[in-house]
Amino acid sequence: MTVRRSVVVGCGGYLPEKILTNDELAQRLDTSDEWIRDRSGITQRHIAAEGELTSDLAFAAAHSALGAAGVSVQDIDMILLATSTPDETFPATATVVQSKLGADNAMSFDIQAVCSGFVYALATADNFIKSGQAETAMVIGAETFSRILDWQDRGTCVLFGDGAGAVVLKAEPGQGTTADRGILSTHLHSDGRLHDLLYVDGGPSSTGEVGFLRMEGKEVFRHAVVKMAEVTVEALEANGLTASDIDWFVPHQANKRIIDGTAKKLGINGDRVVVTIDQHANTSAASIPLALWVATRDDRIKRDNLVLIEALGGGMTWGSGLVRW
Ligand code: UT7
Repeated sequence: MTVRRSVVVGCGGYLPEKILTNDELAQRLDTSDEWIRDRSGITQRHIAAEGELTSDLAFAAAHSALGAAGVSVQDIDMILLATSTPDETFPATATVVQSKLGADNAMSFDIQAVCSGFVYALATADNFIKSGQAETAMVIGAETFSRILDWQDRGTCVLFGDGAGAVVLKAEPGQGTTADRGILSTHLHSDGRLHDLLYVDGGPSSTGEVGFLRMEGKEVFRHAVVKMAEVTVEALEANGLTASDIDWFVPHQANKRIIDGTAKKLGINGDRVVVTIDQHANTSAASIPLALWVATRDDRIKRDNLVLIEALGGGMTWGSGLVRW
């Protein structure tokens, strides 16, 4: 049987130049390097420069993914940008990126699923490709969370950073087995009743202002550990695979303790887990594509490797994906 698969043909990323360390934060907040490292695994984060917008970060990541893919920008027929920090309320920041790239043949729109945004965007692009509505898709996760943080709230502001990552997906024929290269499956979930655990207290239709991120950290943590394990098991079972088949586990980077807990539950050794939270902090929708970029650049993730991704974010939303690289 021949099926259409969405194959990752290139991966890119971008991190703003400015680095903010835990020690620098401790100079202006009642916190410490030790607390932040112990509770989250974070040592530093990148912060976008004044005037540097989400579309700038997204463009830089997309440009580097295009270079890695060796694909002409005119071949891109779809741009999906996962972000919760768009340049403007409208239009979609994806259209700004389209213009910056000169991707004149693409349709472009944003996906809003907070930290699960990249998994949601990958699933959407995969379904467009599988149905024949797209051939070559640029899927980006880009955030400037530094702009929606309450820098007086030590319970949240120490945890996040700015950045962008991107992959290029191309339609290729497969046999319909798990040996195929490309996206093997995606599983998405949400539960709107959990809104109050993680949200931004503003918006165009409510306060007319952008607002700040609010989080019940302990509760989010509890849901993350349970739901991430469930959705990864769901991915494995749907494909008749087990954790021992996974070459690389690339989880959303929210907390090193959540990553370790999920990997342990699945029985995946630490040396098969890609961790970037120490350097990048939580970059929301950008965290998975940034981690993919890091691990492809240093030659950990190679062609034909089986990669498991998963994320949980505000909404709440959560999801997983299995990709044969
Ligand atoms: O990407 C979206 C998903 N997001 C997440 O998955 C985040 C999930 N949550 C977490 O990662 C953790 O809950 C946190 C890292 C946010 C917090 O860790 P925790 O172990 O749950 O700490 P806590 O919130 O229970 O706070 C423990 C103590 C509190 O003091 P008391 O009440 O025990 O006296 C906090 O006030 O730590 C205090 N605290 C801090 N101390 C120093 C909170 N933030 C800080 C801080 N520095 N930055």
